[in-house]
Amino acid sequence: MATDAGTPRPAAPSPGAPVPRFPDGFLWGVSTSAHQIEGAAGQREASVWDVFTAEPGRVKDGSTAAVACDHYHRYAEDVALLAGLGVDAYRFSVSWPRVNSPGGLDFYDRLVDELCAAGVRPVPTLFHWDLPASLDWLRRDTAERFAAYVAVVAERLGDRVGTWITLNEPAEHTLLGHALGVHAPGRQLLFDALPAAHHQLLAHGLAVRALRAAGATDIGIANSHGPTWPASGDPADTEAAGFHDLLLNRLFAEPVILGQYPQGMGALMPGDVETDLLVIAEPVDWYGVNYYAPTRVGAPRGGATEYGGVTLPAGLPFSVREIEGRPVTDFGWPVVPEGLTQLLTGFRDRYGDRLPPVVITENGCSYEGLDDQERIAYLDGHIRALHTAVTAGVDVRGYFVWSLLDNFEWAEGYARRFGLVHVDRETLRRTPKASYHWFRDLLRAQR
Ligand code: NOJ
Repeated sequence: MATDAGTPRPAAPSPGAPVPRFPDGFLWGVSTSAHQIEGAAGQREASVWDVFTAEPGRVKDGSTAAVACDHYHRYAEDVALLAGLGVDAYRFSVSWPRVNSPGGLDFYDRLVDELCAAGVRPVPTLFHWDLPASLDWLRRDTAERFAAYVAVVAERLGDRVGTWITLNEPAEHTLLGHALGVHAPGRQLLFDALPAAHHQLLAHGLAVRALRAAGATDIGIANSHGPTWPASGDPADTEAAGFHDLLLNRLFAEPVILGQYPQGMGALMPGDVETDLLVIAEPVDWYGVNYYAPTRVGAPRGGATEYGGVTLPAGLPFSVREIEGRPVTDFGWPVVPEGLTQLLTGFRDRYGDRLPPVVITENGCSYEGLDDQERIAYLDGHIRALHTAVTAGVDVRGYFVWSLLDNFEWAEGYARRFGLVHVDRETLRRTPKASYHWFRDLLRAQR
């Protein structure tokens, strides 16, 4: 296990302290995404991620997702793992490039049938970063094409799928893919990446309309959020932290929740923004939050800074600082369960009755090994922190662990293992980890 001597690790959960009960009907699940697990790249057109990974140096271990976990062929085995785990729901994503290809939708048909037969609710995400290579989020018509694709998927699967997610993390896809260039499509546009954010948000709103037209009644979005902690009480640090919060949290939450861009940011967006906001604010049934960790932010210091393995360029109006004294995952991300409580109570205080019911659509950590006590401690801490938010009155309806399987972690390749189930890179054999059994027992105790 890659651990620096002296780095604090999360403590194992205290035996005899059961996780408190969540409200009746609370939805427990796990998440994956198409590009990260499916493989069978030859049976679909190329996505921006196929193009990106083919460029030398883009993915740290030089790997690609051509085979990934071979879920395309092994989906029945993976659904059996879900059934064994006892989850209520499975969040996966539909690959737009696959749907564009002959027989592509048939795969999701089979997967959905298999899930229904196993008693697991299918929760598809319609876009999880694998844009068809011929398309571009800097273009407005990508949003319209997205809505047309969503209508096709809803028409085919809508008789068995009741719960839908439009987009996954448009903030990360904008920041990492279009502003910093460390994810596909590899653009380094900095603030000129903002149209990619607007067009994804517009795509979300148009997709909600397309899903409603197809009769869907349970629709959400999966946005990434985390509290921003000012590095100190110094006004320069507070201001920088506010700017970071504006860019990563508010810019993506407020158009959806309030129907407006925060602090005049709409002026930076392309097109008839006021009209688009009416589409973007199309009501959702719940608001999905992907939570991993808070970010500590201070005034700019000049020079580049490191942020979760990404080098942020000099010239940004903030700098990201280390969160000290916390355990870190193998990815180097700090483990801060109470950040989840803070985030949710903060959202409730900020948005009041406008905040839809919340679902945690992703939460998890990367650790090596089959006896993954650190993952158990991470999940245990975060589920308790979530319960604290529920007790404080935040309407939370569900929680999904990222991820069912060790998979292709984007620019990190296969080096980061987020799964409850280990996947051998040579044989692709699945082996449930200690955390799989722990989560299964937790779910049983919640029934
Ligand atoms: C967010 C993304 O949605 C998912 O694809 C990724 O693997 C996890 N976070 C972990 O980085």
